[in-house]
Amino acid sequence: MEHQLVIVLDFGGQYSHLIARRVRDLGVYCEVKPYTTAPEALAALRPVGIILTGGPNSVYADGAPRCKTEILTLGVPVLGICYGAQLMAWLCGGKVAAAPKGEYGRVSLEILDTASPLFADVEQNATCWMSHTDCIAEAPTGFTVTAQTENCPCAAMEDAARRLYAVQLHPEVQHTTFGNQMLGNFLMKVCACSGDWQMRGYVEQTIAQLKTKIGGKKVVCALSGGVDSTVAAVMVHRAIGQQLTCVFVDHGLLRKNEGDQVERICKETFQMNFIRVNAQEEFLGKLADETDPEKKRRIIGETFIRVFERESKKLGKVGYLVQGTIYPDVIESGAGNSAVIKSHHNVGALPDVVDFDEIVEPLRMLFKDEVRRAGLELGIPEALIWRQPFPGPGLGVRILGSITPERVALLQEADAIFREEIAHAGLERGISQYFAVLTNIRSVGVMGDGRTYDATIALRAMTTSDFMTADIVPLPYDLLGKVSSRIVNEVPGVNRVVYDITSKPPATMEWE
Ligand code: XMP
Repeated sequence: MEHQLVIVLDFGGQYSHLIARRVRDLGVYCEVKPYTTAPEALAALRPVGIILTGGPNSVYADGAPRCKTEILTLGVPVLGICYGAQLMAWLCGGKVAAAPKGEYGRVSLEILDTASPLFADVEQNATCWMSHTDCIAEAPTGFTVTAQTENCPCAAMEDAARRLYAVQLHPEVQHTTFGNQMLGNFLMKVCACSGDWQMRGYVEQTIAQLKTKIGGKKVVCALSGGVDSTVAAVMVHRAIGQQLTCVFVDHGLLRKNEGDQVERICKETFQMNFIRVNAQEEFLGKLADETDPEKKRRIIGETFIRVFERESKKLGKVGYLVQGTIYPDVIESGAGNSAVIKSHHNVGALPDVVDFDEIVEPLRMLFKDEVRRAGLELGIPEALIWRQPFPGPGLGVRILGSITPERVALLQEADAIFREEIAHAGLERGISQYFAVLTNIRSVGVMGDGRTYDATIALRAMTTSDFMTADIVPLPYDLLGKVSSRIVNEVPGVNRVVYDITSKPPATMEWE
């Protein structure tokens, strides 16, 4: 099945990915391409629309990222957003200059042309989100100004004959109240999109493609139990069944019962060819007495590679190695243009130790929320699909000081209580990540008639959209009180519970 395609041309804006996500949420398939993509290459993709994103530069500055003007004359409708709007004006002969007064944040938008297709069903004087120092000082010949704000006389413009549209505001951010409507209007009314992008069709199509591509070859997948690798594995399994072997290395640093849960889902729900490598002793043995956080990470990473290498050698030569790469990783590694630093590569070294011909990445074109939808389509239980992100080195990055089997067990218990109470309060979906940390603080307490000298557990709960910055979640006091009381009563060896109220930055999310 062929989908209609919209291209999001990335000029380095911080919201470029968000634009692409919004477009897909509106049922239109889109891909992010760097602004340097040649017009002929874009035309060859036969897009039904092109969106120029925002970016941090001034269009008139030396070295500013600019696409070729021919992109505007392909006969395909174009929507310029923020920098993309200014670039459209500049390329078409209009004027862009520093605004007398920049606009940052919420502003009221006055629509001047209510007949513009872009503003169909958009309220007059709606709130929109602005973030700019430059503005379109003079719209190019052929364009009419269709909206303004107090400090931005050209907040939107269009040349309906050439199907060129531009908005200074950010329709993709939540604070623009009719932003989704505007994007939808561009897609449906200007580009005539039918909204044919649906997860079910995509999943079926990918499974069929995997079947053809893999043929009769053997495939191996390193399963971490996280959402991405599980969805990737189940998809490949649907395509080729027992030709796939999943290897799950249990390093003993998973959350309570998580290893068993992964095994149950893979073996019982999906009847996969599943190897669980119980390497807890090997990992904990190598970690004994190590207290330096970076060294602990290195030991866990290296041991993982060695254990996986050993297991995969037993399988002999394989045709394909499955990786759970998702679309943001693809864009970040250069397919788009946004400057983002990827900090954690859990399986980066696996390709070096497996004897395989090719890598297969069934989730390569999906955003995280789409991976979840694909997982639900495939019948993976909700509890796994909505599992919060968990670092590759597991509880190893949540235990300060030395990692012993006793300390791991203690943290597993405390963390399980915290998670249980959060679930009980119905707060799971509203928090990006929440967990317990075993600190290396011991302090005096009193329990019953006796003096104790025991460990301190720290609790952490954060919201974030990109994990680069994060805010603390103000959990209700009665919930925190209940968790604290349960932990000190139910987990021997703990006599104090504290709540971390530091945002990121300056702190990181994990304690190490
Ligand atoms: P920090 O502590 O750096 O964490 O603020 C940001 C996010 O990354 C996760 N994290 C990891 N994820 N492998 C991963 O896959 C790792 O080694 C790793 N270390 C931290 C952390 O849980 C948070 O979501």
